[in-house]
Amino acid sequence: MSIGSTRPRLVPLLLAIVLGLTGPAAADEVLSSIARGGRLYDGWFKEIGEAPPVASHPSYPTGHEFRPERFWRCVECHGWDYKGKDGAFAEGDLRTGIKGIDGMKGAEPAKIVEILRDARHGYGDYLNDTDLSDLANFVALGQIDMSTVIDPAKRLAQGDKEAGTVLYQTICANCHGNDGQQLIDAPPLGDFARENPWHSLHSIMNGHPNGSMPPLRALDMRKLVDALAYIQTLTTREPMSSVLRGGRLYDNWYKESGRQVPAGPHPAYPVGKSSAVEPRSTWRCKECHGYDYKGKDGTYAEGPHRTGISGVMSWTGATQKSIIAVLKDQTHRFGGLMPERDLLDIANFLSRGLIDMDLAIDRATKRINGDAHKYEAHFQTICATCHGKDGTMVRTMPPLGRVASEDPWRSLHNLLNGHPGDPMPALRALDAEILNGILAFTQTLPTRR
Ligand code: HEC
Ligand code: HEC
Ligand code: HEC
Ligand code: HEC
Repeated sequence: MSIGSTRPRLVPLLLAIVLGLTGPAAADEVLSSIARGGRLYDGWFKEIGEAPPVASHPSYPTGHEFRPERFWRCVECHGWDYKGKDGAFAEGDLRTGIKGIDGMKGAEPAKIVEILRDARHGYGDYLNDTDLSDLANFVALGQIDMSTVIDPAKRLAQGDKEAGTVLYQTICANCHGNDGQQLIDAPPLGDFARENPWHSLHSIMNGHPNGSMPPLRALDMRKLVDALAYIQTLTTREPMSSVLRGGRLYDNWYKESGRQVPAGPHPAYPVGKSSAVEPRSTWRCKECHGYDYKGKDGTYAEGPHRTGISGVMSWTGATQKSIIAVLKDQTHRFGGLMPERDLLDIANFLSRGLIDMDLAIDRATKRINGDAHKYEAHFQTICATCHGKDGTMVRTMPPLGRVASEDPWRSLHNLLNGHPGDPMPALRALDAEILNGILAFTQTLPTRR
């Protein structure tokens, strides 16, 4: 990404501007060692560009499923606020019951390195002397007491959001955009900062492991907290456009996003199935869960698309977080293939965008329960500009009359959400009666050109 290449020049420049120029070189070095230690604390294997160890961590807490990418990270045991079981991570999913590192503030770095090499940690096998010394510098010199700047119960940064606007607009908005939503690889910043202010502040101070974001710990802490307070006021992703885009991604995410799809079949796709479905199509949500969202209990119960996989209807109302966890799980493996923004849009679609298609379409006859006659005029005004009066004008697809008669579920899904990668408008705003009427009319159109 082009942003990455600007980092080396950007960071010193920004710091020089905001600090009113540099201190002694030695202080700079310690600061950058502390910040790197902070990034290692967050995700050391990412920072050094290695895979997480497969071996179990010697101290990983019982009662948690062991996942190396999780339990080798310092932060998972000691918390984003550095207080372990006595801080903001005393309860909840991230609870580990392990003490914090705040007792080691000001300790001799050599002593901390010794702890990291000890039998309870075993990091000597994976990290070199520089890494260990950066981590020790962070532990000894880099911790702040987050409880003095973030209200633990309300999760609110105790800063001046007006004042924070300046720092956000000058430094952060370049990458994140004015609304905090420009980067598709990051969640909307406002949501993220409201949910996890401790993680946000840690990232603001130290940057991201192996990332392009500049560490800002050289700045006055008050300014950083002001910026965090401002970020917590940024808007969430506009819900309706997210649901609609999620619907298009559900249909065909690689067409909608232009991203790469693996060439071979999805590992969860039943082996030995007929070759009626091309391998990359098996990566589309609709291929396993259906255009009617009912999987094996819906229209994909039989025929060439049959897979025996269940539907997703029951996920209406589920939290974004729980759905995104499913999409990243061992069955689905979409984590590396789609950016956060896309996963979020799909989650919003599942949570808020599913309808019961059995109410609109008769499964046996494929007829749409709509008043074709009444809504012909709607078709001629809204659809005919592109599809033509008789639905045969878009040359890249078969006549609309045939498409809507053969697979009305797909037509309805596309009518509600738009067509992946094409300019067709999404018409979710229209009443169901109107949509069904328009679709019923399209079923009366010629099936041949
Ligand atoms: C899987 C859990 C786990 C991970 C990951 C982990 N630690 Fe620890 N850490 C512990 C346990 C357990 C102790 C001992 C706590 C006790 O004495 O109660 C400890 C103790 C410490 C202490 C001493 C705290 C004190 O006041 O005595 C420091 C410092 C520390 N860890 C730093 C780190 C750093 C830095 C990393 C990442 C490189 C890390 N830990 C990763 C579990 C973990
Ligand atoms: C040079 C580009 C760049 C700048 C400038 C930048 N960021 Fe980021 N930020 C990123 C990228 C890229 C990500 C996505 C995560 C990653 O890098 O792995 C991100 C993610 C984040 C996250 C989310 C999650 C996380 O993992 O911590 C927060 C919070 C954040 N940035 C805050 C800020 C703030 C506050 C500023 C300004 C002080 C800022 N960023 C400036 C590029 C930038
Ligand atoms: C290759 C097949 C396949 C694809 C593609 C697929 N899934 Fe799944 N999905 C499964 C299987 C298998 C399960 C487990 C449930 C079952 O066995 O019936 C599942 C379960 C789910 C569940 C429910 C989890 C639970 O435990 O109840 C959700 C939600 C879900 N998938 C959403 C999606 C979304 C959204 C997409 C597209 C981004 C997608 N899936 C793509 C195969 C697939
Ligand atoms: C701005 C132009 C435009 C408008 C307006 C438009 N469409 Fe489309 N429509 C398209 C394009 C482009 C495609 C995709 C053709 C392709 O797949 O190559 C499409 C595809 C479709 C499909 C096929 C979806 C599928 O893959 O099964 C249906 C059904 C459809 N449109 C119905 C309608 C209806 C009904 C209306 C009016 C309510 C409408 N369209 C309005 C441009 C438009």
